[in-house]
Amino acid sequence: MDPLETDHEEIKMSADDWWKCGIVYQVYPRSFQDSNGDGIGDLGGIRARLDHLVSLGVDAVWISPIYPSPMADFGYDISDFCGIDPRFGTLDGFDALVQEAHARELKIILDFVPNHTSDRHPWFVQSRSARSDPRRDWYIWRDPAPGGGPPNNWLGNFGGPAWAFDPATGQYYGHSFLKEQPDLNWRNPEVRAAMYEVLRFWLRRGVDGFRVDVLSQIIKDAQFRDNPPNPDFIEGQDPFFRWLMLYNTDLPEVQPIVAEMRRVVDEFSDARSSRVLIGELYLPLARLVAYYGLNTEGMLEGVQLPFNFQLIATEWQAARIDRLVRDYEAALPAGAQPNWVLGNHDRSRIASRVGPRMARLAAMLLLTLRGTPTLYYGDEIGMTDVPIPADEVQDPFEKNKPGMGLGRDPERTPMQWSAAAHAGFTTGTPWLRLAADWPTRNVEAQSQDAGSMLALYRRLIALRRAQPALNRGNYEALDAEDEVLAYARSFEAQRLVVLLNFGATPAPISPALMPRQPIVLASTDPARAESIEGSLVLAPCEGVVLGAVDDKGPATR
Ligand code: GLC
Repeated sequence: MDPLETDHEEIKMSADDWWKCGIVYQVYPRSFQDSNGDGIGDLGGIRARLDHLVSLGVDAVWISPIYPSPMADFGYDISDFCGIDPRFGTLDGFDALVQEAHARELKIILDFVPNHTSDRHPWFVQSRSARSDPRRDWYIWRDPAPGGGPPNNWLGNFGGPAWAFDPATGQYYGHSFLKEQPDLNWRNPEVRAAMYEVLRFWLRRGVDGFRVDVLSQIIKDAQFRDNPPNPDFIEGQDPFFRWLMLYNTDLPEVQPIVAEMRRVVDEFSDARSSRVLIGELYLPLARLVAYYGLNTEGMLEGVQLPFNFQLIATEWQAARIDRLVRDYEAALPAGAQPNWVLGNHDRSRIASRVGPRMARLAAMLLLTLRGTPTLYYGDEIGMTDVPIPADEVQDPFEKNKPGMGLGRDPERTPMQWSAAAHAGFTTGTPWLRLAADWPTRNVEAQSQDAGSMLALYRRLIALRRAQPALNRGNYEALDAEDEVLAYARSFEAQRLVVLLNFGATPAPISPALMPRQPIVLASTDPARAESIEGSLVLAPCEGVVLGAVDDKGPATR
C-alpha cells in the first residue's frame, strides 16, 4: 500500500476542516524573505516563497505583525492597526498576498495585538494630551501612589514597573510590556468597538483568522490591587517573576470579551470555511482550556485554538510527554480541538532545546499527535538558535535585561533558503546575522537530500494529510517500556501506531504494541525499510509510524 494514496470514499468536508485537520506555519516576516534588498523580510518575500509552503504541505500561514510600527518591539508596538508598515509593503501588496495564497489553498492568519498599541498610535497621542481628552479612558491612567511612585507593584514583562509617568498630565499609564507599548483599557466599550472594527477591516480583506497576542492580559483588576509575592521565586531569576500575576492576568472578566471577539469573526464564517481565533496563552492546562469558552449550553464560544505551549516547557522525556498528552486530552472540553506547538518567535528553537537528532523525533511527535500543529519557520530545516554578539542585539528584551538569556534574536535569524549570498534571504545586509551553517543547512540543499530534515517534514506532513487517522482520528494512549512513547491514532477501521524512542539506547518493541502485519509508514531514520523482518528495535531517538499491510484508509482530505 502507498500510504500517501488512498482510494476510498470522499470524507465529508466541513467549514472547520482547514484549522482542525490542517497545519499552521508561522512566518516571522522580518526574517522570512526580503524582496527589496533592505535586509528586512517583507510581504513581497512571503509571496515569492508561497510555493515553499505548498511543497511543504501546510494549510495556513500565520504572519507576525506587519502593521505600521516604530518597531520598539519589532511590530508588536502598532501605530496603525489598519495599515501595512512600508518596510513590509503596501495594502495592495497585502491584498495580492491573500489572493495568491488563496489561489494555492493556503489560508492567511494575521496577528491581532489587542493588549496595547504603540505610544505613537494617534489614540495614545490623544489620550496623553490631557486628562479631559475624550480618549483619555482608552488607556489605563492612574494617579501616583499616595507617597508618590507607581500606583502598584505590577511589573512589565520586559523589565521595570508596568507603569510610566507622564509629567504633562501628572499620571501614570499602564504598560504590560515596554513603556512604548501602552495598554488599552478593554473595560471601555469604545475601545472594544474600535478593536472589533479592526478585526472586521482585515476580515473584509479576506483574512481567515487571527492569532491573538497576550490574550489573557487584556483585562486588569478593577481595583488595581498589588500582586502577592511568588513563594517559588528564586533570587537571580528574572525579577518579573517576583510577584504572582494574580491581578493582571487571566481575570474572569476576560472570558466575555473573548466571546465577543469570537462573535465578530463568526460574522465572516460561511458554510465553506470558518474564520479562526488562536489565543496566545502561557497558562497551566486547567486555565488554558477555559479559553475554549465552554458555556452553560455546552457550546464553545471562546477561541477555537488556545495555543498549547506545553511541549515548549516540558522536560523532554517519554514519561513526561506521555503524562502531558494524557492530561491535556483529559482536560479538553467536549468538542474542543487540541493543538500543539514546538516553537515560536519568543522561545528557543526546538533543534537547540533538544538537539538535532531529537528534533527529528519532535517533528514526528508534533505531526502525529491529535490536534492542529503549528510549525515555526525554519524548524523544517532544523535551524538552531544563533548566538548574537552584544553589539548586534536587536531585541529590547535582551537590551533591558542583558545576559539573562532572555533575548529572542537567536530564534529570529533569517530563513536559510540556498547557498547564494546571505542564504538567498536578501541581496542587502540582513537585519540580523545568519546562522553559520547556512551554506549547507538550507532549503535548496535539503530538497536534494532524502535524509534531510526537510525531507522528513515533507514526508510526515504528506502522511498526515493522506491519513484520516492522523489528521482527524482518535488518540489512544498506549503503555510502553522505558523511554518509548507510544500511542495509536484511529479513524473508522484504520488504526496507526506511533512509537517514539526518547532514549539514547536501542529500544525493542513488544509485539503487543504493534498492528497485525505491520509496515513502517514513516521513520525518522531514512534508512529504515518499510517491511519489518522479525522483531522491531528502534534506534536511539528513532520514531516510527506503523500501519497494517491491509490497512485501507478512507480518502485523503
Ligand atoms: C507576545 C509576542 C511577543 C511580544 C509580546 C508583546 O508575547 O509573541 O513577541 O513581544 O507579545 O506584544
